[in-house]
Amino acid sequence: MLGGVADDNGKDGGSNPAPTRPPPGRAALPTQLLRPLLLVALLATCFLAVVVLLGGSAYSVLPRLSVPADSALHAPPSSSLPQRVRLRQAPLERWTRAPSTAWHDMTDEELLWAASWRPTKTGRYPYRRVPKVAFLFLTRGPLPLAPLWERFFAGAGRELYSVYVHAMPGYHRPDDFPPSSPFHRRQVPSQVVEWGEVSMVDAERRLLANALLDPANERFVLVSESCIPLFGFPVVYDYLTRSRQSFVSSYDDTGPGGRGRYPGGLAPEVSLEQWRKGSQWFEMDRALAVVVVADERYYPKFREHCIPTCYTDEHYVQTVLSIEAQGRVANRSVTWTDWSWGGAHPATFWEAHVDEAFLKRLTTKAGQGNCTYNGRTSELCFLFARKFAPNALQPLLTLAPKMLGYG
Ligand SMILES: *[C@@H]1O[C@H](CO)[C@@H](O)[C@H](O)[C@H]1NC(C)=O
Ligand SMILES: *[C@@H]1O[C@H](CO)[C@@H](O)[C@H](O)[C@H]1NC(C)=O
Repeated sequence: MLGGVADDNGKDGGSNPAPTRPPPGRAALPTQLLRPLLLVALLATCFLAVVVLLGGSAYSVLPRLSVPADSALHAPPSSSLPQRVRLRQAPLERWTRAPSTAWHDMTDEELLWAASWRPTKTGRYPYRRVPKVAFLFLTRGPLPLAPLWERFFAGAGRELYSVYVHAMPGYHRPDDFPPSSPFHRRQVPSQVVEWGEVSMVDAERRLLANALLDPANERFVLVSESCIPLFGFPVVYDYLTRSRQSFVSSYDDTGPGGRGRYPGGLAPEVSLEQWRKGSQWFEMDRALAVVVVADERYYPKFREHCIPTCYTDEHYVQTVLSIEAQGRVANRSVTWTDWSWGGAHPATFWEAHVDEAFLKRLTTKAGQGNCTYNGRTSELCFLFARKFAPNALQPLLTLAPKMLGYG
């Protein structure tokens, strides 16, 4: 455009230096006017040249400055490979990025579908993946022991763990915790949970599914508001991420509280011999978490037939994984619970129970006992303990640095 205008002007100026009779509809161009016009044309030409030069060089610089992640694969082969590698920032970002917040608008159906995605290509991850431990807090609402957990998490880099909180709906309080807290805005969309009902298993699957949305989460541990960590974060992290098995309590109880609860309606998917019982407080790896959230074979049958006195949370995960992941579960929980008081609920420890002797018992052979870890006998068997009442917080905070190794 600019060039065309300059040409016309030049032609007019050259061929008609002093027209005596201007053609109709065309104004005469006195020489006084022609000079400024030529000047304008010259400036316009210079401007165009500058634009082309700058634009051209800017274009040639562009791909090296910012390669969009998706186009990195299509970039032409370059002789300066090291430079390209350096500038290929997170080429798999789209597949590896964690959601920025735990909250979302998905329905359970949408969530379970989204969480069931997994790479079918096996082998090494083609990027530097730092596995995270996801802590799934299944709570009624308040987290009275949060200050203890905050000290536990203070011993860890943020890239090593993630937190998800399932609380009663209506308990959504995004600003319960300050931005510095690991619990800040970690509540997931939740539904009502009733003790012993299938809604408990729904909440567990919902927690697993939310945590699966972060591709870095590799181990998933279910805890409650009355659980405490028995060791510092590095011990817990190493124990879980180096384990070849998942810690799901699962055993064949032939008594009335075990086989006695088997609902015949589960056959043929689950036979009496396959029926398992175990503690609700599981820990599992990513592959097993996907099995649980993607399950469409067992879940509908449990939902229909395992109703009190069949308590789904003591049978569903335990039975399904013993069938679908044989040999990949250790058949024991890493969460210590004291059933010695008798009854349907485990012992609850209060302020008065928590002293040095008690915590020493939990963290040493007396409380830890014997177990198998990666095929060997281990004296480290429990990483967490429950149940602790809210008023146990103060003695726990006081004793944690000396007895639990954090705080
Ligand atoms: C767990 O129990 C199952 C039987 O339900 C058994 O096949 C498996 O070997 C056990 N795993 C371990 C680690 O003992
Ligand atoms: C732990 O296992 C070892 C070896 O099997 C055994 O000698 C020891 O008595 C066991 N300890 C306890 C507390 O069960």
